[in-house]
Amino acid sequence: MKCALVTGGSRGIGSAICQKLAEDSQYHILINYQANKEAAEKTLEEVIKRGATGEIIQFNVSDFDEVKNKLTQWQDVNPEAIVEVIVNNAGITKDGLFMWMSPEDWTSVVNTSLNGFFNVTNFFIQKMLRNKYGRIVNMVSVSGVKGTPGQTNYSAAKGAVVAATKALAQEVAKRNITVNAVAPGFIRTDMTSQLDEKELIKLVPVNRFGEAEEVADLVSFLVSKKASYITGEIININGGIYS
Ligand SMILES: NC(=O)c1ccc[n+]([C@@H]2O[C@H](COP(=O)([O-])OP(=O)(O)OC[C@H]3O[C@@H](n4cnc5c(N)ncnc54)[C@H](OP(=O)(O)O)[C@@H]3O)[C@@H](O)[C@H]2O)c1
Repeated sequence: MKCALVTGGSRGIGSAICQKLAEDSQYHILINYQANKEAAEKTLEEVIKRGATGEIIQFNVSDFDEVKNKLTQWQDVNPEAIVEVIVNNAGITKDGLFMWMSPEDWTSVVNTSLNGFFNVTNFFIQKMLRNKYGRIVNMVSVSGVKGTPGQTNYSAAKGAVVAATKALAQEVAKRNITVNAVAPGFIRTDMTSQLDEKELIKLVPVNRFGEAEEVADLVSFLVSKKASYITGEIININGGIYS
């Protein structure tokens, strides 16, 4: 059983990716979430509707021991399963000016995006190297490329994943494992639902927020065999915001 794991697959971009992979690929879809079980179940329903199989694996990506224990348990129950695709999508924001930023707002954001990438990818990387095939896609952000005021924590976390993407890509390229990052601008999800869309689209040449499905299409291509010669890249998907 060949599998694609999507962290934060319960909602928003992650859910759209699970659904798109269900349509476009043969993978068994592993839907990770942290707290929102109902949304994860809804995503699984949509995956099955599209003729694919899948299952839900709950863990907090920022907790190394929890990730290791849950994934070890899963692998023990499914010894034949091979995770060929990892989409490190789970992420949070805790916006605020740096001068007032609490250590908790700094740490939680970094732990989710950056340590989440480490915890999940590190668990699978030796198996992927042995398997001599893999696709890793890291969800970063325009903030991690150009920096966004009010998001020093988030920009730092995503910028670190940008650099990690480039480094790991070079380590594992010989074994047919590609590592790329996708850097969305404003995408309409729960994460951006509190933003003033009318005001912010003035910054976007395309003049609208993007849809989660548009990001999912790009990820689906990057994890396919067609994208074999693309690695170490950070691909912007932001409606033309210069970054
Ligand atoms: N929306 C945008 O405009 C935008 C732009 C650039 C980049 N991004 C990035 O794209 C990714 C997805 O964003 P989104 O807009 O789809 O966000 P969202 O709608 O807020 O969904 C976040 C997802 O991440 C999961 N999650 C959060 N913390 C987690 C943890 N510690 N462990 C496991 N899962 C966790 C959530 O699970 P629960 O449902 O269980 O809470 C949920 O499935 C994030 O990395 C975000 O930084 C988004």
